[in-house]
Amino acid sequence: MFSGKKILVGITGGIAAYKVAEVVSRLRKQHAEVHVAMTKSATEFIAPLTLRSLSANPVYVDLFDEPKLWNIEHIALAEHVDAVIVAPATANMLAKMAIGLADDFLSTVLLATRAPIFVAPAMNQAMYQHPATQDNLARLRDRGIQIIGPATGFQACGTEGIGRMSEAEEIVESLVQFFSGVELLKGKKALVTAGGTQEPLDPVRYLGNRSSGRMGYAIAQALQEAGAETILVSAPTDLLPPPGVTCISVRTALEMYDVVLSRFPEMDVVVKAAAVADYRPAVQVDQKIKKDGSSRTIELVPNPDILAELGRKKTSQILIGFAAETENLLANAQEKMLRKNVNLLVANDVTKPGAGFNSPTNIVSFLFPDGRRIDFPQMSKLEVARNLVSEIASLLVCKRSETNG
Ligand code: CTP
Repeated sequence: MFSGKKILVGITGGIAAYKVAEVVSRLRKQHAEVHVAMTKSATEFIAPLTLRSLSANPVYVDLFDEPKLWNIEHIALAEHVDAVIVAPATANMLAKMAIGLADDFLSTVLLATRAPIFVAPAMNQAMYQHPATQDNLARLRDRGIQIIGPATGFQACGTEGIGRMSEAEEIVESLVQFFSGVELLKGKKALVTAGGTQEPLDPVRYLGNRSSGRMGYAIAQALQEAGAETILVSAPTDLLPPPGVTCISVRTALEMYDVVLSRFPEMDVVVKAAAVADYRPAVQVDQKIKKDGSSRTIELVPNPDILAELGRKKTSQILIGFAAETENLLANAQEKMLRKNVNLLVANDVTKPGAGFNSPTNIVSFLFPDGRRIDFPQMSKLEVARNLVSEIASLLVCKRSETNG
């Protein structure tokens, strides 16, 4: 399963550290190249020698140890691996990760790596349920880090409750699931639009909207993780493009239209998550508009509907649209799906708490032209994005069999 995959196992100081020997052993048996980094406290629970023997690689503990190779090890390792699993992840390590603290070998690698990170929390139930730990986990989840477990049961401190580390089998299974999705879109080209366009009135003012860009950026990340060569056409946002994704910055709907239409013919998948202004000011003046005490009227002219244009032009592409609605969600979304000729429409009611523009989470339904509908509960935008990517993969498979058959 893991042939050719390089996995870093990070061990922190909890009693569950002994179970990680089995994680390492299972990964090795399935042909992963395994590296191990331990915190100092983890070495109190399990000997580095055990992990060195099971992984067949040197074990990293201290940033200032004599280097095992010539290069700067924490950076080289951060760049080398395909995934990182921190197990057990103590409350302390989760807190460090949440704020980006890098004060030992493992936390430094976690900050430097762009590989997907999994954590398997393990701690006493009161520590797990503490609002600080829950806030830290929520932050990590929003950042796309996958949380495995914890389970409920007997704890080392003698109590029963939630906080036991998940079993080795479940941890390895999460990695299997992840890597089986990695190749889903290999060799495919994808384009995603994100953010809210800005339509200038004068050199200092514009008409905009409240889109944060988070949904589109999460989709670009999920497409990239699934192996697609991904272009992100982004209206202004405060976000950093996901690693490995080519980002093209635009400002207005017309600029987005030009970029998207010129790239469209070579694409396999296009996801239009951007909030595109339907109108722009009829005139954009060169100098700042001065106040004179009178009321003003701004004349607006329509922008092209980029998605509808792609719907007219599409040949073999899988085209995904969004519908941001404030009322009659499903009826409006259904109408948009058909009018814009998309293969899948993501509908969300932007007025719901936990959904919409500035929220780290979303509550969506996927609508398909054949009448199918999938309703999702509230989940992080990255989870929505990963669900969307698996639907895209199925649509591509269906398309291929239609073409062949
Ligand atoms: N869209 C687009 N170009 C536009 C307007 C919208 O490509 N000029 C795309 C969006 O990226 C989204 C979908 O169309 O994928 C629906 O956007 P939305 O704002 O929900 O709908 P509109 O078509 O603008 O309709 P309305 O404003 O009437 O709800």
